Amino acid sequence: MREVHIASTGLWIPEHKVSNDELIQSFNEYVDKYNEDNKDSINEGSIKALEHSSTEFVEKASGIKSRYVIEKKHLLDPNFMKPLIEPRDKNDLSILAEIGVNAAKDALERANLQPKDIDAVIVSAANISRAYPAIAIEIQNELDIKGYAYDMMVACSSATFGISNAYSDIKTEKADTILVINPEITTAHNNYTDREAHFIFGDVAAATVVQGESNSPVKSRIISFKQSTVFSNNIRNEKGFINFIENKDYSRDELLFKQNGKKVFKDVCPLVAELISEHLSEEDLSHRDIKKFWLHQANLNMNNFILKRIVGDDKFNADKAPCVLDEFANTSSAGSLIAYHRHNDLKPGDKGIICSFGGGYSICSILVEK
Ligand code: COA
Repeated sequence: MREVHIASTGLWIPEHKVSNDELIQSFNEYVDKYNEDNKDSINEGSIKALEHSSTEFVEKASGIKSRYVIEKKHLLDPNFMKPLIEPRDKNDLSILAEIGVNAAKDALERANLQPKDIDAVIVSAANISRAYPAIAIEIQNELDIKGYAYDMMVACSSATFGISNAYSDIKTEKADTILVINPEITTAHNNYTDREAHFIFGDVAAATVVQGESNSPVKSRIISFKQSTVFSNNIRNEKGFINFIENKDYSRDELLFKQNGKKVFKDVCPLVAELISEHLSEEDLSHRDIKKFWLHQANLNMNNFILKRIVGDDKFNADKAPCVLDEFANTSSAGSLIAYHRHNDLKPGDKGIICSFGGGYSICSILVEK
């Protein structure tokens, strides 16, 4: 059977960056205003006063120091608390397609490829802006790519599950070269008035070229995948087309990202450590054979916990699981790919693991060799 490679990865990064201090100052101004506007109800005890957020907490609890965002002014406005963008005409490129094309061009350039070399496009993201026509087909059209294209959603595992689909299509000779694109505008689904989640997310687009025979100077061979899903309501996004016909008036907060962060931490860390350990043992490998673990970027403490579980009694070396959370925050499915893209010092023959985990729950481990 033919070999399949990650030929290259590419990124699009928004121009606006928000530090923890900026975000927390705006959140705390929102809290003061809310408490002042609602002081009578708070004094009566019918509603609770909101509490301030703090930079110290955010950095200690998550490892996040800043995030890139598509729009900053309104996001930081205590009277608005979300980014604001202009609607686009249907004849203009949609925002997800635009940032996806930018990431795709970066990935193509790094692999010395042209759009004409691509046989298929998969857009895979935690949130997709419309049901149809597919953003992937819009990108296919924009780049003048022949073949097929489709969208898929697997929350924070969207990128790795997309790469898995591309791998299968290439193995079975349906295609030779596939673009997997992850446009993640996470700021549109986050609740900037929620103290426990307002600091979590950042925007980005990532792209991966998956290819059979590859001349890319930055390629890695994909050895195998291990995937698992386990149903949980602890990370949930309620927004969908059925909302429209439900006999209920949803509040803004009800249709945004929600999580029970503590439960997610407790459930997901052991599941991920176990899945990676099983993946390694199925391949007759030990953690010592792995040069880098490019893990999903949701929380630094989570990643350290997972790595410690995997190495057991061996010496723990945090550098083995590179972190990009400090700069990017949680960029949903793009996180493990950004870590791979930015921290890839593998020499020929070295092995690494890309592992996503998140809503669903969904987990996917990809074993690669330089
Ligand atoms: N600023 C200051 N204090 C805060 C705060 C904030 N923004 N948010 C919560 N706190 C306080 C809490 O009130 C609590 O105080 P208490 O101990 O007096 O009750 C304390 O900090 C601890 O809160 P907790 O929610 O237990 O924090 P945590 O250490 O579990 O960290 C998360 C919270 C969300 C960062 C962490 O649970 C996490 O990352 N979980 C996994 C998330 C994940 O992977 N999600 C996937 C998304 S795709």
